[in-house]
Amino acid sequence: MGLVLWDRSLSVGVEVLDADHITIISLINHIDDAKQHGSDEDAVAAIVGTLIRFAVHHFRREEDMLAAVAYPDLQRHIEQHRLLEDQLAELHEAYAQTSDPDISQEIMELLHFWIVEHILRVDMPYKSFLDHDTNTTK
Ligand SMILES: [Fe+2]
Ligand SMILES: [Fe+2]
Repeated sequence: MGLVLWDRSLSVGVEVLDADHITIISLINHIDDAKQHGSDEDAVAAIVGTLIRFAVHHFRREEDMLAAVAYPDLQRHIEQHRLLEDQLAELHEAYAQTSDPDISQEIMELLHFWIVEHILRVDMPYKSFLDHDTNTTK
């Protein structure tokens, strides 16, 4: 699996949300790296747990910011977040029971695929919206 690299084409125009996306991408790359270099599954598990917790934290932050500007497509956006959270929770639970390296691989690949897709297709449409309304927090 290749690294995901963040660049300006992934910027949603809000510093704190870009920073969250960069953190999520960095954690995915960190897991990939740990696996490539044969780190033990305990180390991988610690990063996977951090990644999942951080992703959920990011979704809440994004949802709160969008709610604050009465973003019209908020409900659909929340549903997209919940869908991923449910998939992650299910995989994480299975992983907690077996520490199977295939499951941590699956979690990483799911997030890898999902994050770029989601930023470009679901997050990006709020860019002009938040730019105009809440970017004063910068
Ligand atoms: Fe989002
Ligand atoms: Fe996001």
